[in-house]
Amino acid sequence: MTAEALISEADFKLSMRHLAGAVSVITVGDGQHRTGFTATSVSSLSAERPSVIVSVNRASSSWPALQHYGCFCVNVLAADQQQVAQSFAGLDGRKGAERYGDAGWYRLKTGAAALENALTVLDCKLETAFHYHSHAILVGHICAIEIRQGIGPLLYWRGGYHELPADVDRRNLAKALGQ
Ligand SMILES: Cc1cc2nc3c(=O)[nH]c(=O)nc-3n(C[C@H](O)[C@H](O)[C@H](O)COP(=O)(O)O)c2cc1C
Repeated sequence: MTAEALISEADFKLSMRHLAGAVSVITVGDGQHRTGFTATSVSSLSAERPSVIVSVNRASSSWPALQHYGCFCVNVLAADQQQVAQSFAGLDGRKGAERYGDAGWYRLKTGAAALENALTVLDCKLETAFHYHSHAILVGHICAIEIRQGIGPLLYWRGGYHELPADVDRRNLAKALGQ
């Protein structure tokens, strides 16, 4: 048996449930061709050339759109934007442009949709994408940024959403997460 066969998919998924993450919505496309997905895989890449990485399942509706448009927006969700997360995860049954229905949107530089009242918005040109099995790792070069102060983030941990207040300190973290 190979080393990789020792790790089951179920154990991997159980392990990943412990990885608390910020929740973002990645938007791509325009008009009726808009789509997008909820993502916890966003990471900072480089400040020297401002950039982020995001991994996307190549079976999702967003992957062909990302290749076609060559740009996307990372919208880091605020604590009260859980409904947007549900919609872009496809969990309320909406597809493509329908997912944009309940929130306000505007454009920055690339034309991808920026979410009103998101914690921060990173408007990205898709610089390159690396394929790894089912997923592609997107490298986005940031062309425009919006930042809002005084609001807390939406987090995802152990299969559920948690709202973190903007003024939380370390002692109150467990209380804020309802633990
Ligand atoms: C909290 C959360 C985080 C997610 N993170 C990712 C991610 O980083 N990459 C990804 O491809 N899908 C991720 N997904 C799943 C996608 O949001 C979902 O499969 C996608 O919206 C389906 O898109 P489609 O119906 O347009 O094909 C996540 C889902 C949830 C609920």
